[in-house]
Amino acid sequence: MSIICVCYLYVPLVSSLISPAVSNWMYLGLIGVPPPLQQQQAEPGIEIEDPALAQANIVCGALTTLSSEQIEVCMKHPNIIYAVANGAHKGIQECQYQFRNERWNCTTNDDDEDVFGYILKTGSKETAFIYAVTSAGVVHAVTQGCSAGELAECSCDGTNHGRSTPEGWKWGGCSDNIEYGLEFARKFVDAPEQLKSFEKNEKLKNRIHMNLHNNEAGRQIVQSLMRMHCRCHGVSGSCELKTCWKTIPPFNEIGDIIKKKYNDAVLFRNTRNAVKLRSKRNKARTKKEIPKDNLIHVSKSPNFCRYNPKKGILGTKDRECSKLSKGNDSCSILCCGRGYDTQVVKIREKCRCKFVWCCYVKCRTCEKEQYKYYCK
Ligand SMILES: *[C@@H]1O[C@H](CO)[C@@H](O)[C@H](O)[C@H]1NC(C)=O
Ligand SMILES: *[C@@H]1O[C@H](CO)[C@@H](O)[C@H](O)[C@H]1NC(C)=O
Repeated sequence: MSIICVCYLYVPLVSSLISPAVSNWMYLGLIGVPPPLQQQQAEPGIEIEDPALAQANIVCGALTTLSSEQIEVCMKHPNIIYAVANGAHKGIQECQYQFRNERWNCTTNDDDEDVFGYILKTGSKETAFIYAVTSAGVVHAVTQGCSAGELAECSCDGTNHGRSTPEGWKWGGCSDNIEYGLEFARKFVDAPEQLKSFEKNEKLKNRIHMNLHNNEAGRQIVQSLMRMHCRCHGVSGSCELKTCWKTIPPFNEIGDIIKKKYNDAVLFRNTRNAVKLRSKRNKARTKKEIPKDNLIHVSKSPNFCRYNPKKGILGTKDRECSKLSKGNDSCSILCCGRGYDTQVVKIREKCRCKFVWCCYVKCRTCEKEQYKYYCK
């Protein structure tokens, strides 16, 4: 028998959008991780050598949208993959909440493994937000999983137990183990962003740098919002002894900060030419370091005003806008100056509540008119 090798056809990248191996682990946030099928009954006489490995194979093998490096992490920690899906889900939800009043409203496509489609490839501020918020989501979900005792790999952080805080209080209780959450997220979320040593493509390098920077920014923002809680002990609240522990913040606080960082995102250009130009123009000015918790992007945002099915951009037609607002949800900004339609909506609500002797309030419903504005 002879073996015939067939070489793959080399297809050069034509697109001007350069992004590393599609990072669509975020798809787990839309579809979740299917529960492992009932342990398959081994045929009589055949023993499964390593049931844990067989189980990991079933769970991780079903996740076809992960990169090979991520599958490796999954095989080592098949249980944590549920927390990863949960984290991606938190990130997507928070993105849609933060952008509910913006021209781009963080649309996802349930049928699309790319989740955010074209936007994930652009390398714009929006891409930066998505990477940071989903990376933060994984830290949050894994850390909470540790505290809830759901994961075999980690538990509460007891490293400080018995020690004193600078104020002389005692550490105790269950501190959220953010260190484990950070470490796991670094391993899993950053895994697809690998630069092959032979890679010379400057654009791709910049894009990988951007992704890694924003993943880390998301993680650092979670860490920076950790807070201390304390409880008093002692006779009638005398607080002779105070024990303290650290908790992770609610996810919406993290989302608020990442949104602020999105507004101030820095355009990152590090191609050789740009560096040369800059040093020519101003020799004295050294390259300024971008703080680790800032977001960076490599491209300008696309135009979100117009419907563009090729790029999966919905445009803002029919979006509801606010006539009174002066912010990004105002009709002039959201509708991109195209104008808007006004509709009168009738809403039914309880009105004229009447107190009836002796003990209850009697209400009747009535209709009220309200104006709503929609982009043209
Ligand atoms: C509106 O959007 C712009 C551009 O993204 C941003 O710079 C600005 O801060 C936003 N305004 C508010 C109030 O969020
Ligand atoms: C975003 O806006 C579109 C209309 O342009 C709407 O159909 C969609 O439901 C919105 N998505 C979210 C997540 O709010």
